[in-house]
Amino acid sequence: MDWDERYARSGIGRPGPPSVLVGREDLVPTTGRALDVACGRGTVAVWLARRGLAVDAVDAAPAGLALGRELAAEEGVEVAWHEADLDSGLPFTALHHPPSLHAPRYDVVVCQRFRDPLLYPTLAGVLAPGGLLVITVLSSVGDTGGRFRAGPGELAGAFGHLDVIVDEEGGGEAHLVARRG
Ligand SMILES: C[S@@+](CC[C@H](N)C(=O)[O-])C[C@H]1O[C@@H](n2cnc3c(N)ncnc32)[C@H](O)[C@@H]1O
Repeated sequence: MDWDERYARSGIGRPGPPSVLVGREDLVPTTGRALDVACGRGTVAVWLARRGLAVDAVDAAPAGLALGRELAAEEGVEVAWHEADLDSGLPFTALHHPPSLHAPRYDVVVCQRFRDPLLYPTLAGVLAPGGLLVITVLSSVGDTGGRFRAGPGELAGAFGHLDVIVDEEGGGEAHLVARRG
């Protein structure tokens, strides 16, 4: 079943922080710009908007974005929804590889349960100074593995040049929270 079909069946969600930030919500600023990469049905994007951030949210699944729009309207917040295939990079940075001064910079970048190692440099590159990166991917650590899962240490290897706040692996997931200095 593809993502559009899943979203068509799942219905609207509830706003909520990225799972790795539950209990750590205070790491997220209440002003500035946020980017949610592979936002799905927009529960994190809407949570970020409710927190006070101006949010760009990107996903390839129109049904997910439609649920996000519905949730944002219900919660009375604005989110800029972008339908795009991330296999071609971030839509607004496609012309800026590596991101230049003209590319957007974000105070928060979230990428939860979507893994594309080719996108890692861009995710770090669009962080504003002091910006927070929050990423969760499927991991082979604590799982039987598979070609879609990150190997041990993948996130720390890709983002170790940032100031790492959380680096956890286990139970088939890897989480990293880090700040650009
Ligand atoms: C496991 S869901 C995660 C959704 C959301 N981040 C969350 O945590 O609830 C994976 C998401 O990645 C999106 N996705 C998969 N491949 C994509 C691609 N090439 N470009 C854009 N989005 C993609 C799917 O549409 C889906 O919404």
